[in-house]
Parts: sequence; C-alpha cells; structure tokens
Amino acid sequence: MTTSIQIKSLDDYQRVYRYSLEKNEEFWDNIAKNQLHWRKPWSRVSQCDYLTGHVSWYLGAELNVAENCVDRHVHAGKGSKKALIWVGNEPGEEKTFTFQQVYEEVCRIAHALEALGIKKGDRVGLYLPNIPELAFSMLACARIGAIHSVIFGGFSAHSIQSRMNDCGAKLIITSNGVYRGEKWIDLKTNVDEAIAIGCSTIANVLVIPHRSQSRWERQLRDLNWNEVLQPFKPHTAPSHLSEDPLFILYTSGSTGKPKGVLHTMGGYLTYTSYSHQLVFQPQDSDVYFCTADLGWITGHSYLLYGPLANGVTTVMYEGVPQYPTASRLWEITDQHSVNILYTAPTAIRTLASLGDEPVVKTSRKTLRTLGTVGEPINPEAWRWYSSVVGEDRCPIVDTWWQTETGGILISPLAGITPTQPGCATLPLPGIEPKIINESGEALKGDGQGALVIARSWPGQMRGVYGDPEKFFDTYFRQYPGNYSTGDGARRDSENNYWILGRMDDVIKISGHRLGTAEIESACVLHSDVVESAAIGVHDDITGEALHLFVVVKSGAPETPDLAKALIQLIRKEVGPLASPKKIHFVPGLPKTRSGKIMRRILKKLAVQEFSDLGDISTLAEPSVIELIKKAVITER
Ligand code: WT7
Repeated sequence: MTTSIQIKSLDDYQRVYRYSLEKNEEFWDNIAKNQLHWRKPWSRVSQCDYLTGHVSWYLGAELNVAENCVDRHVHAGKGSKKALIWVGNEPGEEKTFTFQQVYEEVCRIAHALEALGIKKGDRVGLYLPNIPELAFSMLACARIGAIHSVIFGGFSAHSIQSRMNDCGAKLIITSNGVYRGEKWIDLKTNVDEAIAIGCSTIANVLVIPHRSQSRWERQLRDLNWNEVLQPFKPHTAPSHLSEDPLFILYTSGSTGKPKGVLHTMGGYLTYTSYSHQLVFQPQDSDVYFCTADLGWITGHSYLLYGPLANGVTTVMYEGVPQYPTASRLWEITDQHSVNILYTAPTAIRTLASLGDEPVVKTSRKTLRTLGTVGEPINPEAWRWYSSVVGEDRCPIVDTWWQTETGGILISPLAGITPTQPGCATLPLPGIEPKIINESGEALKGDGQGALVIARSWPGQMRGVYGDPEKFFDTYFRQYPGNYSTGDGARRDSENNYWILGRMDDVIKISGHRLGTAEIESACVLHSDVVESAAIGVHDDITGEALHLFVVVKSGAPETPDLAKALIQLIRKEVGPLASPKKIHFVPGLPKTRSGKIMRRILKKLAVQEFSDLGDISTLAEPSVIELIKKAVITER
C-alpha cells in the first residue's frame, strides 16, 4: 500500500492524517517501504526523544541514496527518460540528461573522487553555480558516502573559509565563475582567497572550467576537472546506513555563526520523496521546474533529491528570473512544457512589478500546479501568481518548511486542499504542529503564537555539525517536548495555519536567511564602530531589507563614505547577499537592562513610525529613543 498516493480528496487527507498520528510507526514504516529501495530493512522505525534532542529513523537499515535517485530508474526501464534539463543563463543554452546519462556522469565523478582519496565520511565543499556538474557531484558524494556541503555562490571568501573549517572539508569543487544575469561572479578567486586566509584541511581544489572564455589562475593544489574525470566505467554503489550523514548545509540562526545543519541518508530521502509526491502530485510524464539554486535547501530537497527519487524530470536554471527579460521563466515553461513550477515570493513580486504583458504574451498552457516557498507570500502577489501566471486554473501550493525540517511540513496538496491567499493550510500526514501561547501553553482550536512541532518526522535534521549541545539548545530547550521552529503562526477555526514569519533575530531578504549576529559582528570589525544592530524592514519586493543602526567611536565621522565602507565590509565578510540597504548613524542603541538590543523598537524607528513604539518600560535608558528619533529625522 502506498499511503501517500492514496490521497485524492480532502476526505482521504483527513482519514490518512488521523491514521498517521494514531499509528505513527506503522505509517512511517509504510511510507519508507513504498518510497525507496532499501538493501536491508530496519530493526526499528524510529528512536526519537525531544526531551534530550535525539532523533534517528530506520535504524540499522541500509540503502544508497544515489542508487535510489538514478540507478533504480535505469533498472526499471526508464534509462532513456529525461532526468535533468539544464537551462543556462543565456537563452538557447541548454543540456538534457537522461537517467542513463546521469548514471554515467555520477559514476565518473564517484570514481574521480575515490581516485583523489575521498572516502566515506569525508567532507566535500561544493562552491559552484547552478550547473549539472553540481547536481552530479552531490549525487556522487552521496553514492560513495562522502558528506557534501554546498555553499551558495553569493557567499564571500570569509564565509567559505569559516564553513570549510567548521566541517573540516578535504576537497572543494568550484568553477572559474558564473554569469548570473549580466553579472560575472568569479568563484575561483573567492576560493583562492578563502584558502589564503586559512583552510588547513583542504588538500585540493577541483576546478570545473564552466565557461571556456574565462581563464583561471592555476595554483599548485588545483586540479582540472577535465583532466581528473575519466571516461565512463560502471561504479558499484556501496550500502550505507540510514543514519549515515548525507550532507551539511550552513544556515543562519539568532546567535553566533551559521550552523551546520546535518541531514542523514534514509530519513531525508524518504521524506523529500514522500512530500514531493504528495504536495506536487507529479505524474510520470510531467516536467517539473524548481527555480531554486542548489546552494539552498530548496534546491537540495526539491530540485534534486525529491524529484529524482520519484523519477520525475527536473529542470535546473542557472540564471535569474528577469534575465534577459521578464518573460524568461514563462519562455522556459513553454520551451520545455513545464507542468509544475516552484518558485519564491520575491521572484513573483519582482515579475509582478514588471507588468502582465511579459507573462500574457507566453502560452503557459502546460502549467498545472504552482508552488511558492521561502517567506510569507502577501495576498496581492499570491493573486497575481494565481490569476496572471496560472490563469485561475492552477492550484497554488504555499509550502512552509525550513532548512532544518528537510522537507515541506505544512502545505496544500495540489488540487486537493482548498487554498486561500497567504495561507499554508494543513500539515502533511505524520506532522503534528502546535501553537504555544506566551504562557507556554499549547492552544486548542484557533489562536496565535509560537509554531512548534510535537513529534519527529524522518526528514528532520539530526544535529548541528560538531555541536550536539547547540542542537538541543536551539531547537528543544524553549518548549520542552517540542521542536521549536522560530516562526510565529495563527491557526484558524478550520485548522488552517497562517505563517506570520520569524519571531527570532533571523532576517529574510529575498527569501535568503541571514542572522543579525553575523552581520553585526562583521560591522564592528571596522575600527570606527563601537556597536551596531541589524534589523529587517518591510520591502515590497525583497520581503525584508537590511537596515543597520551604527554607533561610531567618539570623534569618528558619520559620513556617507563611512556608510559605504561598512556596506563593503559586510559584503566582504558575509557576501553580496547581505548588502545593507540603509545605514543609520545613531548615538546609542535601545537595550533592555540585561543588555539585549530591542530590535522591535528599531524596526519602527527605521521607518520613522514614532507614534506606537509598544512597551518601552524594560528599556535601560529610555532617553536614547529621543536621540535616535532625532538622528533618523535628520538623516540625509
Ligand atoms: C524560514 C526557513 C524552506 C526552504 C526555504 C527557506 C520562512 C519558508 C515559508 C512559507 C511563510 C516561510 C519561515 C521559515 N518560510 N517558507 N511558505 N510561508 N514563511 O528555508 O532558509 O531555512 O528559512 O523561511 O520563516 O522559518 P530557510
């Protein structure tokens, strides 16, 4: 019985949902058996304890993730089916790979990694554009049991360095560079700089000459992809344990440096394939297009692992939605007969701001389902997506999840769950969300508060790499017995969830996740700065924009030049995706008596909303408010 595919109506959903919680073990036992090919069954479905922060699934079971995503489909006679359609930055630049071809590429890379001395458990950094070689390298790592850690191309040399040191990577695979839109990003130079600052565990840099027109400077440790990769030879996929690590992906939290979110093999692949199938309802002949970059969890789970585990043709796009014109996504849709499109609210808002014409001049007749992810979608953008892009015939799946959850937890099921603009609707079977109020009580029925998940699911992260205490402290300490998401949510009387956004110090710019702490610690590296506070301010296109309040040393000039220098510094330390939109020079910061910055107040002051600052009774020095007001009013 494939529990997931049996859901064809809301009644089915309700029935399966009840069953999934009543017979939780039996439910996940069935799902895993039906989604994947296992080489050895589990002795126990799960062993999880939120009171200690321990999570494991399918204990003792064995599988190979790459075999499940690739070889399995070749053996099932789908070798000539398209697995990956790659669309380059420039229109007309395309490559298609069948499952057989993907199999061959993955085998070639697996052999090459082994020849370079990469063994099971070794960490491999991947700092690459959205190109097929990145997808195949991830699968090759999975095949041999090496742990991949992809770093998005928008991160700087410093970010590469801290991540590679944190996980102790042996090898980095990169390319000379990439065009995103009209911008050339020199990836190789960033890697060279990261190594110059100090990445002592890196033995080699493997360079993919992605665009032949651009040269790269060859260092002693560098290897050329074209010289290292050998012609295809079959590669025998070894068995790995369900709980062997699959990848580490760094993500920002409220405090400190980005955390290495660890996902393991069996549970992650079970959950991504299950949720992909259930939410998007793909048919065997469908073409599915997720616009995410593989540098983020959306790329991992729903561009690569989920769809390929399900044998679905997946489209990968190197560029940005508005290049060279605002019609690009719809042209790709028409050229490749895309049936399911999955993108982010920022992209939707950017394209909506450019008008309907670039959309309506394309056909889009193959589209059946539209998805969104990454941040709350405002009803206006939702309606534009639904009516202009989807011509009111495509359901919108507003999928809520996180890097930590591995896959979608709350979302409509396409064509099954009734939708409303801005509503993530219902939890997937097996997922038990709760809303906790300010007194720490779980609410019954409708209400608003902190969103937590009351029991584990197979796709849940297993730990913070190298820091077990941080895992417990971040996710399980605040609401004992629950996984704390960091988001606020409202539940209505029909049990629908409306996600309100982050309740902690995490900022979402264009759906990209940034922590206030990492931005502030970059800013104070400047010798003229005493302290700073980063906040997210509403922005019509990017959702939030980064504003920075800066206190300078006495005598230091509060000039546009200093503002520029600080922006440059943060771009250099964190990456271009963390560019502050506005620097506010202020004489002090509003803090509680225990020294915590009251960002809630700064959010209002940043937009000169002075009338309702909320409760300011906990401020250590209330007089600072007037000083900040004066400073922002007189800003140039
Ligand atoms: C945070 C997680 C999930 C993959 C991409 C982002 C916000 C995500 C939604 C949604 C409202 C959403 C939350 C969450 N978020 N999806 N559909 N509606 N908010 O992963 O970078 O780990 O960020 O993104 O605030 O906590 P991430």
